[in-house]
Amino acid sequence: MTFGIFKKRFSTIAQLRAGLDERAQIIRAREATIRERERVVEQREEEIATLQKCITRLKQELAQPPAFEKVIDLRATIVETIPKLSGWCSERKALLLSDLVLQNDVERALEIGVFAGRSAVPVAMTMRYLKRGQLLAVEAWSNLVATAYPIDDEHDNWWAEVDLAAIKREYFKSITKYDLTRHVSTLELSSDEAFAALSTSSFDLIHIDGGHSEQQAIADVQQWTSTLNKRGLAVVDDIFWPSMKPARAWLHATCEVVDEVCESEHVTYGIYRRRS
Ligand SMILES: C[S@@+](CC[C@H](N)C(=O)[O-])C[C@H]1O[C@@H](n2cnc3c(N)ncnc32)[C@H](O)[C@@H]1O
Repeated sequence: MTFGIFKKRFSTIAQLRAGLDERAQIIRAREATIRERERVVEQREEEIATLQKCITRLKQELAQPPAFEKVIDLRATIVETIPKLSGWCSERKALLLSDLVLQNDVERALEIGVFAGRSAVPVAMTMRYLKRGQLLAVEAWSNLVATAYPIDDEHDNWWAEVDLAAIKREYFKSITKYDLTRHVSTLELSSDEAFAALSTSSFDLIHIDGGHSEQQAIADVQQWTSTLNKRGLAVVDDIFWPSMKPARAWLHATCEVVDEVCESEHVTYGIYRRRS
């Protein structure tokens, strides 16, 4: 009888031990899974730390101003290129346009009145240097559009005769030659037609150098400054021409005058900032 009870208890203990062994095995298996997952978490944490370092480095690179030597190269390229192009943009104005792009985080720029690209090229070269930014170049290359409203006999006759088809070819050749196609879109339209299509667009910088008649000049500054982003900049050419007087007065009444430059009798321009 006593032996029977002892045997039964022994068997129960053996069963309990087997159960415990089984549980211990399960726990060991779970511990192995936890260790494996911990290793994955560690790996992921290392990957995240590496990516965070990359982000920090990229942020630092973006925050740094472009290398001084490279800006000097860009300016030298602009100064060397400008005289090779037909048109009126002076070296100083070309460098000013370039500086405005560099210093004002210009992502979208617009030019009205491109001719052979003498003022569009420095803007686009600066965008190519920065590897960002788009210039929308609006130009009709049409004697009829250029003479739609009178300026004075001398200018009206010149604009009626000039070979704008040849000038257009020169422009497109330069855009390709200087590798600027990625940063320039060209709209072969009159300024008014372009505005009808783009009135809801927004720009950080606009350069108005299209028709210089009183009617076209005032229409251009009124229309296109409305597309400027808050604190966006407008460069307006030939501000001291008699025909530009109403346009200049309107700019003075509505914008902050950043600067008005008189390089010579024939080279004048103003820089205006949209107030709000
Ligand atoms: C003074 S030139 C531009 C010069 C150029 N920005 C430069 O710096 O050499 C004026 C240009 O505006 C263009 N133009 C005149 N009236 C226009 C209009 N209503 N719409 C579009 N382009 C126009 C002319 O064909 C001409 O090429």
